[in-house]
Amino acid sequence: MGKMEYRGYDSVGIATINDQKITLKKGIGKVSVVNKKLSLDNLKGDVGIGHTRWATHGSVTSVNAHPHVCAQSEIAVVHNGIIENHLDLKKQLKLKGVIFKSDTDTEVIPNLLSSFINQEAEIKSAVVKTVSKLIGQYSFIAMLRNETLVGVKDHEPLILGIGPTGYFLSSDVLGFAKHVDKVIYLDDGQFIVLNHNGYKIYDFQGNLLNLTPTKLSRKFENIEKGDYDHFTMKEIQEQTSSILESGNEFLDEFATFAEILKNSNRVYITGSGTSYNCGLVGKYLFPKVVGKSIEPIMSSEMKSFEDCFDDKSALIAISQSGESADVLNSVAFAKEKGAKILSIVNTTTSSLVKMSDSFIGLNCGYEVGVAATKSFTSQLIILYRILEKFDPTLNVSHRLDLVSEAIAKILDNKKLILEISQKLKNIENLYILGRGIHYPIAKEGALKIKELSYIHAEGVPTGELKHGPLALIDESTYVILINPTDDSSTHSDNISNASEIKSRGAKIIGISNENNPIYDYWIPLPNISKIFYPIIETIPFQLMAYYLSIERGNDPDYPRNLAKCVTVK
Ligand code: F6R
Repeated sequence: MGKMEYRGYDSVGIATINDQKITLKKGIGKVSVVNKKLSLDNLKGDVGIGHTRWATHGSVTSVNAHPHVCAQSEIAVVHNGIIENHLDLKKQLKLKGVIFKSDTDTEVIPNLLSSFINQEAEIKSAVVKTVSKLIGQYSFIAMLRNETLVGVKDHEPLILGIGPTGYFLSSDVLGFAKHVDKVIYLDDGQFIVLNHNGYKIYDFQGNLLNLTPTKLSRKFENIEKGDYDHFTMKEIQEQTSSILESGNEFLDEFATFAEILKNSNRVYITGSGTSYNCGLVGKYLFPKVVGKSIEPIMSSEMKSFEDCFDDKSALIAISQSGESADVLNSVAFAKEKGAKILSIVNTTTSSLVKMSDSFIGLNCGYEVGVAATKSFTSQLIILYRILEKFDPTLNVSHRLDLVSEAIAKILDNKKLILEISQKLKNIENLYILGRGIHYPIAKEGALKIKELSYIHAEGVPTGELKHGPLALIDESTYVILINPTDDSSTHSDNISNASEIKSRGAKIIGISNENNPIYDYWIPLPNISKIFYPIIETIPFQLMAYYLSIERGNDPDYPRNLAKCVTVK
């Protein structure tokens, strides 16, 4: 179960069937902590369900942890997503005498299913009736006392794994990769009934479906930390090689993307968090290279921009997981209006891929650390390779070795970044400045530092500082200035702004290929062709966020309150 923790890790629980009875253990904390206290792994039985939670409805308590059982303790359920009409359903079930123990939306599922199972001869019909009552985005697994499992998928992932030792259901192949060789990715509106005789898959109307298992890709094997203390550091280091693979299996799709973008009157780009920051880099590059602008829209804000789309527009959706609810919803809006959907995504079996007219895979391998690191640099490379289709002189594909070497040089210098991080470890605020194409990296750097170190960090366009944020600067402040010499006027404007900061007593950390006396600390960047600076200048921030997290006693792989894949709105 530890393998699924990256999706949520505030509490954990397991239920198994033993002697036709459901036994249940759950508690607050990570799998290892709860296991130590409650010996989760001692539960007996051949059939069981487990869950690691990222709280949405109801605070982090062991009562609210999954699995949840129905009032008669005949059915236990683990659930991913949200049941939007849970309050109405609770009201109806309470009238029938059901007493709820938790504050979660999940608890309505076992109770609803139980009420229909009591009326229906067939489990299939009870599930059909249950899903007809549920509104929201969910996948869940229900475990019945007769050792039957029911897995239901609607807008949240659910995968069946088939291996020599048995069947497995999980939101992610990571949950069972070691034990299976074949998989079936269920589609929205499908459910599976699984017992000792095998499995049957149905649609939500109850029609039997014939889905053929596919071989599980071997790339899912051996996702381990190896010699590293944390996945985050492993994944930061992997970037020297992962960027060389970005999009390699999708050469035809680059041409498709270019064709669709050329023929679209208006082009938008969307994503959340780090993936949105990649889209912002696109905003700076598109007008120059493609000759038309591209409008970045944060996925969570898309609802306000629905009217922008029509059948002559295109939306590029960027997502590591391909399952972020905000991204999927924004794609659904645009698709409904007839826009073409082009996605840049790491998980090529994801819901986003299914919704796309064409997609390009990051090929950067599994990213387990909750903070996006290698997926961001791969997203940037793909963006650049799309632009290369419009301007072959960018020569991106043939210069990736140089980018990889530059990243390796920065990684070799990590002792310096560790030392700077040790100096910064007790600060409360950090300002990161970048101009032009470096501004999105300032935002991305601030996001990394916030989520891993819990220090308040803000990415500010350098020229905007004097329009307000300068009021926050005093002798205790540290400011990081991203300032390569890629554009001489931008570089010198930044140095002037640095003087304004310096004269207020703040300390300046320069990230640049050239030192300057104004910097109190200098993080050197290797010299590289100018379009590649945004990629390489990302690395010092990833390292700094990692080291600050360690220095402040945090777990960089599992930052508080976050989850790798945010499947709720
Ligand atoms: C930041 C981070 C998040 C994700 C965001 C989108 O390090 O990991 O901000 O970037 O939740 O996730 P995806 O790309 O999976 O849609």
